[in-house]
Amino acid sequence: MIFLTRRERFNAAHRLFRADWSDEKNMDVFGKCSNPNWHGHNYVLYVTVKGELNPEFGFVINLKILSKIINKRIIEKLDHKNLNTEVDFLKGKIMSTENLAIGIWEQLMPEIQRYGCQLHCVKIQETENNFVEYFG
Ligand code: NI
Repeated sequence: MIFLTRRERFNAAHRLFRADWSDEKNMDVFGKCSNPNWHGHNYVLYVTVKGELNPEFGFVINLKILSKIINKRIIEKLDHKNLNTEVDFLKGKIMSTENLAIGIWEQLMPEIQRYGCQLHCVKIQETENNFVEYFG
């Protein structure tokens, strides 16, 4: 079993809040990420796949294919967007990094399986100090 990770980056806006709470309560629980006028992050996404080495090619998955899947399924939908309002597969979720990672996992898993390997981890770095890892 061998693991391969591809890094991609995107910039996006979000707001952490619950519509059924007041701005005060949202600010109390979610802090600055609850600013009603949105704010942005420079997200870094790490997608790790695992599988057996394909002896014919010497890799787990062709990185060109992996990059294309991530860009088509994720980056094109998220980059320079408002994650709360503009992304079909994130609608209705509290836009935490955790929910973002789960949403990205659900988009990528079936695509990656088609190429004979498994999705191992979706890691998202939201800031220098915060990151989330989802293993399914
Ligand atoms: Ni934030």
